[in-house]
This record gives sequence, C-alpha cells and structure tokens, in this order.
Amino acid sequence: MELSIQHVSKKYGTKKALQDINLKLKPGVLGLLGPNGAGKSTLMRLLATIENPSEGTILWNGVQTTEDPNYLRKELGYLPQDFGVYPNMNPVEFLEYMAALKGLEKSSAKKRIDELLVALNLENEKRRLLGRFSGGMKQRVGIAQALLNDPSLLIIDEPTVGLDPEERIRFRNLLSTLSSNRIIILSTHIVTDIESIAPSIAVLSRGHLVMYTSPEQLIKSIENKVWKCVVPTTKFQELQDRYTISSAIHRSDGVHARVVSERRPPENSTLLPATLEDAYLYYVTSLGVE
Ligand SMILES: Nc1ncnc2c1ncn2[C@@H]1O[C@H](COP(=O)(O)OP(=O)(O)OP(=O)(O)O)[C@@H](O)[C@H]1O
Ligand SMILES: [Mg+2]
Repeated sequence: MELSIQHVSKKYGTKKALQDINLKLKPGVLGLLGPNGAGKSTLMRLLATIENPSEGTILWNGVQTTEDPNYLRKELGYLPQDFGVYPNMNPVEFLEYMAALKGLEKSSAKKRIDELLVALNLENEKRRLLGRFSGGMKQRVGIAQALLNDPSLLIIDEPTVGLDPEERIRFRNLLSTLSSNRIIILSTHIVTDIESIAPSIAVLSRGHLVMYTSPEQLIKSIENKVWKCVVPTTKFQELQDRYTISSAIHRSDGVHARVVSERRPPENSTLLPATLEDAYLYYVTSLGVE
C-alpha cells in the first residue's frame, strides 16, 4: 500500500495554493499541520480525487489518480472540512444512505453501521435527528461515514474541531486501533492533537511543504532555539515584534515569554527544552517561504 505525491502543484487562478509537494506515504498516521490557508484542505481534496492537480501526479499503489480515480475511491474514506449532514435524518438513516451511495451491500453495511455507532459513542443517539446534534456529535457521524467501507486510505480534514476533551481522547484511541494496515491522513492546526498519534508529520506553510519528519526529529531540529525571556510588561510588545513567541505568561515580575529564535535574545534569556508546538511555530513563521 503506497500513496505517492510527486511534484504536485495546485493553482486557483493566479493563487498558488500548493507548490511542488512531494510525499511518499506507507501505512500509518500522517499529521498534516499548517496555519489557515496553508493548503491542507486543498491537498486533501486532490488526494480524495475531488479536484485534479494543476501539475504533478498522485499515485495510489502505482496507479495515477487522474487516469483511474475509481481505483482509489473504492478504498477511500474522506471527511471534508465542511461536512454537512441531513438535519431530518437520524444517524442510522444517514449512514445507511451514505453506505448506499458508496455501493455497499445492505446486510454487511448494517453490521458495519452497528459497529461504528458503538465505536463512535453514538449508540444512545442513533434515533435522534441530526439537526439537533452538537458540532462534536455531527463530527462523529462524519467520521463514521468515512469508515463505512473500511478504507485503506482515510483522509480526515480537521477531525478534532468541535470535539470536547473527552471526545478527543476517544477519537485518539479509535485512531490507534484503526492505524494498522491503512494510511491515515489528518489535518489540523492544533499541534497537541496529533503529537501522540502521528508518527510522521508534514508541515505546510503557504503552499509549501516545509518539513516532513517524525515529531521527535521535528523537536530535535530546534533544540537550542527555544528561550525563556522575562521582560517588563512595557517591553513585551517590542519583543513580540522581533521574535516568534510561542507562549507568554503575565506575572508580577513581568512577562515570562517563550521565544523561538536562532540567536539568543539579549533580554535575560535562558534555554528551554523544545516542544512540538515550538517547532511548528518555528517552521511556519521563521522560514519566510514565498
Ligand atoms: N476553490 C478555491 N478557489 C480559490 N482559492 C482557493 C480555493 N480553495 C482554496 N483556495 C485558496 O488556497 C489556499 C489554501 O487553502 P486551503 O483551504 O487548502 O487551506 P487550509 O490549510 O485548509 O486552511 P484552513 O486551516 O483555514 O482550513 C488559500 O489561500 C485559499 O484561499
Ligand atoms: Mg482547511
């Protein structure tokens, strides 16, 4: 099983949403990280064969997706970022409808739907109308529909948006049970959401792939670049203008800022151990890709 993305670019008019993306994915979880507008959803739409690349090729097990999209679609589960549900259906009706659209056989679909309702903690809500569901509950229905065909390639755009902490943990556990023998791609701009579940991370910034590595390597790559600076409140704005600040706490002796910088900031600074969040900020802010 292999998903290969080769020199992929996507333009919308003159806007370059993606530029020369290269990735080769094997079974496991890939966390796709990037700020708003980085190109995460665009890349996912290309992979889900909703749109075609302007340049480059995407190969699913060696077959070009533009030549034979159905070859990939058969094995695809996709949850788009703006997923809509039918407000007048309940989860069972909705999932049965989606299963029919996907061409799944009725009795095996029924069995699968029962399993998914349990796995996504929707058992008690299965007869309630979707129009009355909270954002997190709708999200779980969306994840369930993506899993109906037991896909080899699972693409979920911003899966944890709207989930409360308990649901996040449940989702994380579900993913770890799903991640053997399939390729899972999750996008998010919340670093901590994928830190513990994604053994590889791709960072997109303004359409460029700026990093593709493990969380450990990502953290390692910015060792000796994270500083603690304590500055008076009046000087904080100036610090913020000059450096990438990953967090700041206001205390009685001034602002305790976490600064990500190649060079040691002159302000009374000491080195701190780096986190994935620091690394992410470093790669999306200080590289200045055009
Ligand atoms: N259909 C479209 N037409 C024109 N521009 C588009 C279209 N889709 C995306 N873009 C542009 O492409 C860039 C990448 O957008 P994309 O939605 O892929 O980013 P994203 O990383 O998913 O952001 P977010 O975190 O906000 O979801 C943005 O500048 C966006 O405005
Ligand atoms: Mg998006």
